[in-house]
Amino acid sequence: MGPLRRAPAVAAMDVGSSKVIVALAAPEDGGLRVLAVAQEPCSGVRRGAVVDLGAASAAIAAAAERSRRVAGIPLPPLMLGSAGGEILSCNREAELRIDPPGPVGPGHVADLMAEVRRTDLPPGYRLVHAIAQEYTVDGYEGCREPVGMAAGRLAVSAHLVACHGNLLANLLRASDAAGVQVENFAVCALAAAESVLSDQERGQGVLLCDIGASATQVGVLVAGEAVGSATIPLGGEHITSDIAQGLRIPRDAAEDLKRRLATADIRSAADRPLDGLSLPPAEGTGADGPVPAGGEQATERLLAEIVQARVEEILERVARLLQDGGLSDLILSGAVLTGGGSRLRGLSAVAMRILGVPVRCGGPLGVEGVLGTPEAAACVGLLQWAARGRNGGRRLMPIAAGVERRPWPFRLWRRE
Ligand SMILES: Nc1ncnc2c1ncn2[C@@H]1O[C@H](COP(=O)(O)OP(=O)(O)OP(=O)(O)O)[C@@H](O)[C@H]1O
Ligand SMILES: [Mg+2]
Repeated sequence: MGPLRRAPAVAAMDVGSSKVIVALAAPEDGGLRVLAVAQEPCSGVRRGAVVDLGAASAAIAAAAERSRRVAGIPLPPLMLGSAGGEILSCNREAELRIDPPGPVGPGHVADLMAEVRRTDLPPGYRLVHAIAQEYTVDGYEGCREPVGMAAGRLAVSAHLVACHGNLLANLLRASDAAGVQVENFAVCALAAAESVLSDQERGQGVLLCDIGASATQVGVLVAGEAVGSATIPLGGEHITSDIAQGLRIPRDAAEDLKRRLATADIRSAADRPLDGLSLPPAEGTGADGPVPAGGEQATERLLAEIVQARVEEILERVARLLQDGGLSDLILSGAVLTGGGSRLRGLSAVAMRILGVPVRCGGPLGVEGVLGTPEAAACVGLLQWAARGRNGGRRLMPIAAGVERRPWPFRLWRRE
């Protein structure tokens, strides 16, 4: 007997606004064995868009090189994810006659998906996801896999996601300059949903928020598939800026305070002075410690007031998106918060009050180490899609796909 053929290694890269993560894994026993993970700080990206090509490609090159070295193999073309900037999403349907009626083949499904993708996008936009939610076979809804079924009429309802073409082009340029080949692209909200949500949550209906540094990426999944996706241009770094301004301290000190002492829930904050806040002697520093604008003494309570105000703003925007899209009543299993921003203490209590559903915070399910952290949620989801093949189990578009013209049906969620 010859040697067993091993599935080739798969790779994923999340280009975030605070860091780039590259991960390499080997498909094994239905799961993934991690071969390497490398993370690099990145300052060249805002809300998923490259703003400094040199800085972005330097971070990508460093993370790619380290993962290559650790794994001891070349990096295969990888799944790339980013917040996607101002993404647009909508749901639409398409129908196909099968004449004469007979068994549905893969070609019929491909024709149907091509039909649902035919859409006239706003100038400069291109489609990045066309995800089949369910098929209808001769009027019977609820079919997940139509191939092999006898049918005369086949319909599909699908979730479409578009992002700006230049945003994608610049991510590809930065990757190319770093010597990294890209197989396909996904928006992080939907990639993170792949790794962070249980089958039960996806089935019953769930809201997912990936709270990153410069953006909060939102996805809604019902009956297992996406029905809404959007990006809100606010994230953890806005909370840090508010702390720096409110307490008149440098950003680094504000970031440190946020991680050590901040809570998003004023009700759990003590009225004691902020501990260990080392400040350069400067205006606004009183004899007993830092004095914020207005002359008050900086306490944990004041810190919580600053943080809660911004957290409420972010979550209220999420709630408004749900309402505008008619999705509020569909998230029966509640909300799951992930991304680095979800580490903030007190966040789930405030989110529960504003969203009015159960909330949990977490990272990829069943994964240990660096890839098990909330910051790695999107990267792990991308790896899982990569393991299912180039189209991620029919969830990803060919990266070079053209788009035919047809009116863009409606904007489920408006542009920010
Ligand atoms: N313990 C903590 N408490 C509060 N915030 C935290 C904590 N740890 C990390 N963060 C915040 O998480 C954010 C980074 O999260 P993440 O790594 O998911 O972002 P990103 O993917 O780089 O950015 P984006 O998704 O916006 O492109 C930063 O704003 C950081 O301040
Ligand atoms: Mg992110």
